[in-house]
Amino acid sequence: MSEYILETKNLVMQFGGLIAVKDVSICCKTNEIVGLIGANGAGKTTLFNMISGQLKPKSGKILFQGKEIQGTLPHKACRIGIGRTHQIVQPFGDLTVLENVMVGALMKHGAVHTAQQKAEEILELVGLAYRRDVRGADLNLPELKRLELARAMATEPSLLLLDEVMAGLNPVDCQGVVDLIQKIRDRGMSIILIEHVMKAVMTLSDRVYVLNQGTLISQGTVKEVTEDPAVIASYLGEKKHAEA
Ligand SMILES: Nc1ncnc2c1ncn2[C@@H]1O[C@H](COP(=O)(O)OP(=O)(O)OP(=O)(O)O)[C@@H](O)[C@H]1O
Ligand SMILES: [Mg+2]
Repeated sequence: MSEYILETKNLVMQFGGLIAVKDVSICCKTNEIVGLIGANGAGKTTLFNMISGQLKPKSGKILFQGKEIQGTLPHKACRIGIGRTHQIVQPFGDLTVLENVMVGALMKHGAVHTAQQKAEEILELVGLAYRRDVRGADLNLPELKRLELARAMATEPSLLLLDEVMAGLNPVDCQGVVDLIQKIRDRGMSIILIEHVMKAVMTLSDRVYVLNQGTLISQGTVKEVTEDPAVIASYLGEKKHAEA
């Protein structure tokens, strides 16, 4: 059995004349946290969309637990153990927090009672149990981000794809999510993390990949990529400027 839970090989995605992802090969080992960074429009979410089945790659391969899955439909990808959060959180506004998480749990458990138990357990884990009876529409942003994580966890994935779960949060709320992601990894999860909050990427990632205009321009440890002149030129330098 391969040491990798996920491997992509030369993945390509094209939208009309735009090649959004060009020949991207990445991997994630079991129980690893892999960071995926790069400027806006670099192709990060598009890469996730191919892995989780929302988009069919133009070419290339995706291996999950050693088996080819490119072109698999989203519900099937979810069933085999690929969970994800969305950059734009979209809870069911009229359902309660508990019901929102139960929707995810029902993917795995047919019985409502079991799904509810599972959902309650996960709300406890993400620190949202006290909001279980509130409507999704009534949550604030930090709570919505935790709900998004809870919904993904409820499908009981073995690989979790996190798309900017810290975007828009203040430093204290960010730290809370960093702690939560660490806790989730300690339960045995493998995680790929798209994030612009560099402090979080540096704290959490075992390895990092950097995309620029659809192309992988760097990979390695946090130290290696943050010292890579190509990364500084295309992303980190610009970011520093923007944050100054
Ligand atoms: N469904 C689509 N149809 C057409 N173009 C798309 C589609 N999805 C993404 N794109 C384009 O592909 C490129 C990559 O987009 P993507 O959303 O993957 O970037 P990203 O790295 O996630 O950026 P961000 O950091 O802003 O979230 C962009 O130029 C985007 O406009
Ligand atoms: Mg994105």
